[in-house]
Amino acid sequence: FVLEMYFSTLMVSSNFITQNGSLHSSSFPSNFLLGTASSSYQFEGAFLSAGKGLSNWDVFTHKPGNIKDGTNGDIAVDHYHRYLEDLDLMEYMGVNSFRFSISWARILPKGRFGEVNMAGIKHYNKLIQALLHKGIEPFVSLSHYDIPQELEDSYGTWLSPKVQEDFRYYADVCFKYFGDRVKYWVTFNEPNVQVIRGYRSGIYPPARCSGIFGNCSHGDSEREPFIAAHNIILSHAAAVQIYRTKYQKKQGGSIGIVMNAVWYEPISNSSEDKAAAERAQSFYLNWFLDPILFGKYPAEMQRILGSILPVFSKYDLEKLKNGLDFIGINHYTSFYIKDCIFSVCEAGPGVTKTEGYILRTALKDGVPIGEPTAVDWLYVYPQGMEKMVTYISDRYSNIPMFITENGESKTNLGRVLMKIHLHILKLYLMILVDLVGFGEMNNPNSTVEVFLNDVKRVEYINGYLDALATAMRKGADVRGYFAWSLLDNFEWISGYTIRFGLHYVDYATLKRTPKLSATWYKHFISNHKARN
Ligand code: NOJ
Repeated sequence: FVLEMYFSTLMVSSNFITQNGSLHSSSFPSNFLLGTASSSYQFEGAFLSAGKGLSNWDVFTHKPGNIKDGTNGDIAVDHYHRYLEDLDLMEYMGVNSFRFSISWARILPKGRFGEVNMAGIKHYNKLIQALLHKGIEPFVSLSHYDIPQELEDSYGTWLSPKVQEDFRYYADVCFKYFGDRVKYWVTFNEPNVQVIRGYRSGIYPPARCSGIFGNCSHGDSEREPFIAAHNIILSHAAAVQIYRTKYQKKQGGSIGIVMNAVWYEPISNSSEDKAAAERAQSFYLNWFLDPILFGKYPAEMQRILGSILPVFSKYDLEKLKNGLDFIGINHYTSFYIKDCIFSVCEAGPGVTKTEGYILRTALKDGVPIGEPTAVDWLYVYPQGMEKMVTYISDRYSNIPMFITENGESKTNLGRVLMKIHLHILKLYLMILVDLVGFGEMNNPNSTVEVFLNDVKRVEYINGYLDALATAMRKGADVRGYFAWSLLDNFEWISGYTIRFGLHYVDYATLKRTPKLSATWYKHFISNHKARN
């Protein structure tokens, strides 16, 4: 109630939250999915419970030095045990969908043909039932980075074609047990990030890299990312094939893939920089989507990589014809792209050299593309959402799309305006503390209120939703939006140092508290419902 009072003050006092003074909830159709997102390793914890096998992330995080704050996801935010409480938070916000992933190692502890861990099946059945009971649509990924460690140890998972058969089997088990109720399936989450970080820079498991790209001495950064990607693309095709032939008609759902999508803005109007920006998309996004939708790798990848790029057999091409039903887009940030084939590029802050001789930078003449945030790769550039969605819609014949992730991390409160609002919030929070006695907020040294007053996140989400609505008005077929994330959670190699949640998690007690953004999202959704 108190947060809502604060929220009203915020809305009445200025156009602080929206650029034109109105929430854009009417911009989306009535059946639009509005939800929040999560993933198994980042949320569940219970890493050894009820027959679960070890995952690659369980093993990786336990090796000293791999995670910034030395933490791991053994407990994470204990969503495995607290999912009912988390569902209440969702119900309160009024979301109509929840994106989560299934832990492969919970279903098949060793990852391969053989005994299904019925305790794992039971867990996800309970979660799915509870969601449906509250009218919340499950939107389920089969793989969100975490895989059974056993596959890694026995044959190197994504580097071997064997994985295609194991992934197909795992997908089959999930469709069989959950497909009567799950209508949205995702094969892979961000395979582009997974292979670049797992096999090029080596900062994610299996931590393989070599040469100029990373600090490891094993692996082959020049080739392995492309081999791993090839096996992921064919594993996707195998899962879609089994879904199409055995389940889809009967169950009536749809299946897609989720890509990390960065908007690449040419740093100048020169034809070289424009071509470089296009090349950057080829080496990041189209790398996976072109084979799945067009049956071949982007021409530029073939030209530049030559024999490094694996080849699809006739048999593979047949399987790839199963395509997908929708593209999931995880969009957060944008970068400038500068061509380096025709001009000499000098390294500067935030500049990375990527394949196809492209320089990626956040700066143009020393000015960032958008407002920087607490996360080094995240710049606030809402126009990037419109441009990204339009690009994907144009390239892939306006196939249905979902924004499967979008969100912002904790930032510093620097601006005067924000300080004024912080004082108002503080006042309301003090009343709240008096009324209900939030333990942690009683502490005068606590920074909790800084996290709770996430005005920047509200501005960010509002701006990006606005840009999304513009793309849709121009014709893009987008069917839903998921805010990353429902809760603060384990942010991979950054551990718990970065907070993306709409709800604050006190990691000592695991208590969840809504941030301003959760209250804002609730209002946004209820306006949306009222107008449709
Ligand atoms: C995308 C990933 O899918 C998710 O796991 C991660 O936490 C967010 N980006 C934020 O970095």
